[in-house]
Amino acid sequence: MLNRTLVTTLERFILDQEAAFHSDASGELTNLLYDIALGAKLIAAQIRRAGLVDIIGTAAAINVQGEEQQKLDVFANETLKNALNHTGRVCAMASEEDEELVPIPDGYPAGRYAVLFDPLDGSSNIDVNAPVGTIFAIARRVSTSGQGTLQDVLQPGRDLVAAGYVIYGSSVMMVYSAGHGVHGFTLDPTIGEFLLSHASITTPATGKYYSVNESNFGRWSLGVQRAVRGFHGDDPTRLKGKNSRYIGSLVADVHRNLITGGVFIYPGDSKNRDGKLRLLYECNPMAFLAEAAGGKATDGRRRILDIVPSGLHQRTPLVIGSAADVDYVGEVIAETEASA
Ligand code: AHG
Ligand code: MN
Ligand code: MN
Repeated sequence: MLNRTLVTTLERFILDQEAAFHSDASGELTNLLYDIALGAKLIAAQIRRAGLVDIIGTAAAINVQGEEQQKLDVFANETLKNALNHTGRVCAMASEEDEELVPIPDGYPAGRYAVLFDPLDGSSNIDVNAPVGTIFAIARRVSTSGQGTLQDVLQPGRDLVAAGYVIYGSSVMMVYSAGHGVHGFTLDPTIGEFLLSHASITTPATGKYYSVNESNFGRWSLGVQRAVRGFHGDDPTRLKGKNSRYIGSLVADVHRNLITGGVFIYPGDSKNRDGKLRLLYECNPMAFLAEAAGGKATDGRRRILDIVPSGLHQRTPLVIGSAADVDYVGEVIAETEASA
């Protein structure tokens, strides 16, 4: 039985961490993370009702303004923006759902941080009741005053202040890092609070799972094909064969591998040279977490966090997870290219 007098809330944990590592902290980052947690709770509540929309019928799907019910990724996007844009803590936002930089509305103060997010990742999974997520990254502003600019969001991932995700699965969890470990909190729906459930998550150096959309096999480079054959067990002197797990929801696939150990890859292919995933609000935050948990993340060659971004929605191949497994993929790709 949970003793509620002993639990650590997300808010208290972040406050304690800030006090421990940044004695001069103003509490702004704590509050910003808490704003994101609030947005996540609102999104979680809406997702839980998603399966009911068909039963309740189209009449209930028309909202008070007479508009049709929003798609969940639009809802999630609006919810996060509204949780962040009036607080004075944020100078600009970048979202998967917005083509351009999202400014702070007129009349509200601009703050010290830029926030980048994928409001609903894996949204096609909603229809089949499989896990989805929200991914976020927080950068310190580099522009000097007024509204934030592109410069504030186009920073390499190594300069992020914090990053995390929320997974809407069998339970709702928020996992974040502000550079000092990776910590997970589970939402207790009876009190509406995220409670510390996974302190200091570390990823085993090698994992038992590999996660990749193998239907693309024929379009991959020889190096990527060889690495995946290694996962199958075809290179036993260098790598023990792995078990396959792929949900098709980055947050869920990375979450599993972060905890149990494993490697997720979304390589480039002959159709999509840079793969599918976006650098700024998918790969960077996940890479930040992977490294903080003792894992690694590359594009098959370079460290993800060292890529200097040039566009809001640019894509990159991704190899992420247990350090030795990520290294294996990089080595096989390099050897294959060298012998070509
Ligand atoms: P989103 O729903 O934000 O567009 O992202 C979906 C992404 C990601 O969650 C997942 O890893 C990937 O798409 C799966 O792609 P494939 O269907 O090509 O495997
Ligand atoms: Mn996504
Ligand atoms: Mn999305």
